[in-house]
Amino acid sequence: MPDIFGKSALLLSLLLGMSGAHAARPSDTAQAELAKAQGIPRPAVIAHRGASFDAPESTAAAYTVARDLGADYLEMDLQRSKDGVLFALHDNSLLRTTDVATKFPERKDSPANAFTMAELKTLDAGSWFNAAYPERARPSYKGLQILTLDEIIDIAEASPQHTPGLYIETKEPKQFPGLEHDLKNALSKRGWLQPVTTVSGEPGVGQGKGRVILQTFEKSSLELLQKEMPDTPKILLLWVGEGGMAPNSDVSFSDSGEKDKAAYYAKQQPKDKAEFLRWLDFAKAHGAIGTGPSAALAAGGDQSYFDLVQPWMNTATHDKGMLVHVYTIDEPADFKHVMQSGVDGIFTNRASELLKFYQRPAPLTVNQLLEKNGY
Ligand code: G3P
Ligand code: CA
Repeated sequence: MPDIFGKSALLLSLLLGMSGAHAARPSDTAQAELAKAQGIPRPAVIAHRGASFDAPESTAAAYTVARDLGADYLEMDLQRSKDGVLFALHDNSLLRTTDVATKFPERKDSPANAFTMAELKTLDAGSWFNAAYPERARPSYKGLQILTLDEIIDIAEASPQHTPGLYIETKEPKQFPGLEHDLKNALSKRGWLQPVTTVSGEPGVGQGKGRVILQTFEKSSLELLQKEMPDTPKILLLWVGEGGMAPNSDVSFSDSGEKDKAAYYAKQQPKDKAEFLRWLDFAKAHGAIGTGPSAALAAGGDQSYFDLVQPWMNTATHDKGMLVHVYTIDEPADFKHVMQSGVDGIFTNRASELLKFYQRPAPLTVNQLLEKNGY
């Protein structure tokens, strides 16, 4: 098992070029202790929808590679099928990532939760990736299926070398009344709400107290998650605008004159410091052990949102005794920037690159691992 709980602060101070005095800030020590107490690696490598740069998101190819690279967590967006099965899919719609338009043309615009699991399992959730990213395409991605939560747990448990944890988002929870209760039952049935009893040595990430982290953008879902699973670490995801923090400006994107959404988002801020602090207080009061803010990326792009990891924001979060896991970052320049700003972990589509940045490179390349796993 990699040394993810012990020497991380020292290692990070070296790779970020900080002075020794800076590396020994009291807040660093406090955050390291908080993460350790929760069984959460710091800094944490959170494989966003699996290794989703390299393989179709939220499929077995993406999750097995993320696991075998040594990612700390497999991230997923949780939904529930028409017949009550929990599964992982980011979008409400099946159109972007499956061949629903071919298999169910008359229902192609229906939400994913209007399909039974048997119907969802007939869909090809891999070929879209080959068309979108020909340079990373593989014939074996054709026909990959949507995965149930149970199947992702099977993947997490299947490696003798490394058991990653699960980082589960209640997606659009208002569409799924009772999802938090169903999730508790599903995790409990698989024994994932308790640490694994290890005979000797430190438990791995996916065996200890922090083996599951629950995340949501919805305050109401955080409350329900806390009620159902009070002992499981939780993260409140942060956003500015509808459903999130009140913004400093009501000017819409179309009226803003900005050339793209990333430029527009980069200028949006929480209304004021007090608004940001109110969200932190809500998170803390409802059981969250941290927040999941967005970031503005150096090169922009469709993952570039509001800069909610400014040093004062991270310091304020730390001062309230909470961790910061930022989404979603794939480039070394951005890794360095957010780490220097003080975050405690990163959601990434490129777990291989983040592990290299943290000086925890996998022994095999992504291509070698894909081939080893039959892709
Ligand atoms: O869950 C953190 C991050 O994944 C939030 O964004 O839209 O990719 O779920 P999204
Ligand atoms: Ca997510």
